[in-house]
Amino acid sequence: MAQTQCPSYFITTPIYYVNAAPHLGTAYCTILADVQARYRRMMGYNVKFLTGMDEHGQKVAEAAAAHNLSPQAWCDSQAPLFTNLWKKLEISYDDFIRTTEPRQYKAVQELWNRMKETGYLYKGSYDGWYCTPEETYFTETQVSKAAEAQQSEGENLCPDCGRPLQRVKEESYFFKLSAFQDKLLALYDEHPEFVQPAFRMNEVRSFVASGLQDLSVSRTSFDWGIPVPFDIKHVTYVWFDALLNYMTSVRYGLDDAASKDEFAFRWPAQCHVVGKDIIRFHCVIWPAMLMALGEALPQSVFAHGFLTVRNPQTGNAEKMSKSRGNAIAPAEVIDKLGVEGYRYYFMTDVTHGEDSAISFERMEQVYNADLANSWGNLVSRTITMCDKYFDGKTPVVDDTWKQQTSPLRDIAQRMFEPYQKNMESMNFAAAKDVVMELVHAANHYIEDMAPWNVAKDPTRAEELRFILLNLLESIRIAAHLLAPFMPETSHEVLMREGLDPEAELVGGTMIEGLSLDVICAWGGLAGDQPVVKGAALFPRLA
Ligand code: ME8
Ligand code: MG
Repeated sequence: MAQTQCPSYFITTPIYYVNAAPHLGTAYCTILADVQARYRRMMGYNVKFLTGMDEHGQKVAEAAAAHNLSPQAWCDSQAPLFTNLWKKLEISYDDFIRTTEPRQYKAVQELWNRMKETGYLYKGSYDGWYCTPEETYFTETQVSKAAEAQQSEGENLCPDCGRPLQRVKEESYFFKLSAFQDKLLALYDEHPEFVQPAFRMNEVRSFVASGLQDLSVSRTSFDWGIPVPFDIKHVTYVWFDALLNYMTSVRYGLDDAASKDEFAFRWPAQCHVVGKDIIRFHCVIWPAMLMALGEALPQSVFAHGFLTVRNPQTGNAEKMSKSRGNAIAPAEVIDKLGVEGYRYYFMTDVTHGEDSAISFERMEQVYNADLANSWGNLVSRTITMCDKYFDGKTPVVDDTWKQQTSPLRDIAQRMFEPYQKNMESMNFAAAKDVVMELVHAANHYIEDMAPWNVAKDPTRAEELRFILLNLLESIRIAAHLLAPFMPETSHEVLMREGLDPEAELVGGTMIEGLSLDVICAWGGLAGDQPVVKGAALFPRLA
């Protein structure tokens, strides 16, 4: 099957502000999207995975000024921090967009021209509050309500992040967001899957139900942004610019036939992965913009929680953030757990959609229990036994074995459905549990069967062959299902079993006629292959 005939799966991360280096939180979101992208490739989709950088706006301009650089020079100097980290973390993105690229300029200018024709744009004057770290406007009412709740006096603080607000008064263009209240509420009713996990829906719905203000979408008090084509003293509000990146990447607004085909094939996106901090932009403003333009709406927005760190002064858990200066560098965790251990830990130990406090102690526990003692150990014991009892090869596969029942086969045959359901709803912790059940059962199976005793009795050779094949087959299947989380390890494990990882789906290459469910069917193992012994996959942490 040619790639383009497979259905498109277009998944995105937020484009991150370039005000400081990416940290564990930034990486968390990016790995989530990567795991989903890899899983979908293995399921036979034609995947496009987009990430990038949000380079305009006041916050980036201020970071640049603080470093005595022009905004563009600053962004250029920061870009490798992102792309190098993504490379290190095995992020399999297909496109990396920067909002200062010409393609984004073109698309945003097209957006302005089209918006102007819709009648949802008007010129006015903004007078209110602005939070630069969040690049968000707040009305007088929102600010005074928050002041009551925060019991703050004097300085006005951001209702979302608690940092000082700026008073802004400037001429600006407005997008008539208020006109979309009913349409948005209807969207949430008709497509509850638009907001995920489902428990986030309430927050979105009540925000919209409480009434929407028109949104200021251009700024005149500074100039680091994309000019409004018909009024160049205005630059585009950074979010009006940033949200469009998802469509820019699939060639929105271009007239040539190839671009039109690409846009028709890719848009709408299947999933925008975002943090809960930017859910309103993605679940309210973005669909309203698309409705105004008459473009299709994305199928879902998945909002994850925050990684938090304890503030030593207050003892409270705070969101890890670039601008708060409490960020932990990914390198610190990579040094401890390795890249694959890192990915596994954050993808499987954080509760679906919830906040999670960083604990190095917990990381070590999970790594030792799941990876060193269970997964790594299972592979190592099994390969060692092939080496010892079968002359360095995996046993021969035949129909007699394929027809055997075994407790491992029972588990393997019923796990795909729950695995699939959990992977598709981004509940990776639950998907991992499904796979680890097989891994744990296989380790128990070794204890129960005591192959070392069976091996002593030449009349039980057939029994020994079945035991090892059951183990090798369980490992082969688990390696595939764990591949979205730990692609390199799965590659290595298959190689150790004497299989050709390139001919399997690991790494997410689509193979004609094959997808993960097919390849994970019990009995797919090719036996009689030389095994490869190697160093411990996950050396125990002391
Ligand atoms: O909001 N825990 O960019 P941003 C988990 N440019 N995830 C975290 C996190 C944490 N402590 N801190 C950040 C922007 N993130 C805009 C987006 S999209 C059109 C424009 C992740 O650099 C999380 O996914 O502030 C959050 O939504 C995102 O980084 C915000 O990154
Ligand atoms: Mg932010």
